[in-house]
Amino acid sequence: MALCLFTAVTLAQDKPYPIFTLDHLDAAMKTLGPNVAGIRASLDDGDFATAKARVIRSREQLAITVTFWRDRGRDDAVTLLRTALDRMDALDAALSIETVDPRAVDTLATRIGGACDACHTIYREQDPVTSEYRLRQSALQ
Ligand code: HEC
Repeated sequence: MALCLFTAVTLAQDKPYPIFTLDHLDAAMKTLGPNVAGIRASLDDGDFATAKARVIRSREQLAITVTFWRDRGRDDAVTLLRTALDRMDALDAALSIETVDPRAVDTLATRIGGACDACHTIYREQDPVTSEYRLRQSALQ
């Protein structure tokens, strides 16, 4: 028992908390992109149940990235992220009522896109050669 505890403490010290690397952020964003695009596609199809499932999945994927910004002390990015999550919650709520208003959910989906863009404008840049997206390192300083 005591040995087990010792081992657990040692492990905990080696790795105090899971590190959320830039690769993790990149991977999260790469799955988030198609999922959020899928929300729009489902809304256009009038498939509100699938849209709602995609909102929930997207929210999870975005929410975990908060660690990246917290670890780097970027309160402004955390706020931008929260705004995006709040807008996802608003869309989730609008999709959860009995008679979904197609125009209302369309507007809410657009507002999510705006929240993504708000962070990308500051923290994302495109490699001029490969056109790949990456973190704007200078914005972290
Ligand atoms: C708080 C900041 C922040 C928010 C909010 C945010 N992103 Fe990102 N996103 C980034 C950063 C930084 C990158 C560049 C990192 C990378 O891709 O390596 C990025 C990259 C991306 C990429 C490109 C991935 C690639 O490398 O091909 C996509 C797609 C993406 N985000 C989608 C979204 C969507 C959709 C939302 C909103 C639901 C969103 N992001 C919200 C910061 C954010």
